[in-house]
Amino acid sequence: MAKLDEKIGFIGGGNMAFAIGSGLINRGIVKTGQVFVSGPNIENLQRWRDIGVATTDDNNEVLNKSDIIFICVKPHILAPCAEQLRNNHVRTIKDMEKLFVSVLAGVCLKDLEEQFSFIDRLKMIRTMPNTPMQVGEGCTVYTPGSYVVQQDLEKVHLMLNSLGIAQQVPESMIDCVTGVSGCGPAFVYTIIEALADGAVKNGVPRQMALQFATQTVLGAAKTVLVTGKHPAILRDEVCSPGGATIVGVHELEKGNLRSTIINAVEKSSQRSAELGRKNK
Ligand SMILES: NC(=O)c1ccc[n+]([C@@H]2O[C@H](COP(=O)([O-])OP(=O)(O)OC[C@H]3O[C@@H](n4cnc5c(N)ncnc54)[C@H](OP(=O)(O)O)[C@@H]3O)[C@@H](O)[C@H]2O)c1
Repeated sequence: MAKLDEKIGFIGGGNMAFAIGSGLINRGIVKTGQVFVSGPNIENLQRWRDIGVATTDDNNEVLNKSDIIFICVKPHILAPCAEQLRNNHVRTIKDMEKLFVSVLAGVCLKDLEEQFSFIDRLKMIRTMPNTPMQVGEGCTVYTPGSYVVQQDLEKVHLMLNSLGIAQQVPESMIDCVTGVSGCGPAFVYTIIEALADGAVKNGVPRQMALQFATQTVLGAAKTVLVTGKHPAILRDEVCSPGGATIVGVHELEKGNLRSTIINAVEKSSQRSAELGRKNK
């Protein structure tokens, strides 16, 4: 797999940043020495130091030393964080070469570009990643801002796609996707837990139940991907007439499972857009 020589910075070293950073290191896309992370509480960055990554409580240090900078703070922290960067920033010619990558849910390119307008000819890419990137099974969409060139896009695509799949989309689609891939892992964890609980209720030991439930979800997901068949066709194939599976499927329908999940995706997408607007 191709490697990058650029220095990669993370402003904000929480869960999403760690999923990307540790994923890139594990995949061999970058070495630990190329990565630099900042956050206000240095003690909260211990897991980065545990994998050999340098940390600081000075966001400007990361900004100055990095070529590609991931902005990984919560949306409501963006404005104070950008203000602090702006107040301490010394303009250099290198600013125009730097590439910024936002992972913030709901925050549009226009607002990101406004917040970072102290960088000349700002190159900003808005992304919506997800935490399964830490195990190489992420799903990311991204949209480039005004000054981003093809070469920048290739680098970001290489990084994000090496941790799962990554696709460029029109910005209008990013909030819609957030409800499925950004928030979806939490929905699936809930489903795995529920499947395991069902098995425990029937007498299967907890650890075994969790392992079987997880493998079942993995297997079903892989079957959809590998066969390319519509999930409804695959479901029909395992529902023999008068059999056990159709009885269970009927129970799911009685509980409005599909409608509940459709609502969850829709509400999460709406909330994501709302959070971006609220934090302007
Ligand atoms: N988690 C997901 O599944 C997911 C998926 C898609 C997108 N996102 C996006 O990813 C972003 C981060 O979410 P997260 O889940 O990773 O949250 P998180 O784990 O809480 O991480 C946020 C990090 O920002 C740090 N921080 C706070 N103030 C800062 C400042 N002024 N400068 C630099 N760093 C600062 C926090 O440090 P302290 O802990 O020391 O305060 C924390 O490490 C959010 O914008 C979210 O919309 C998350």
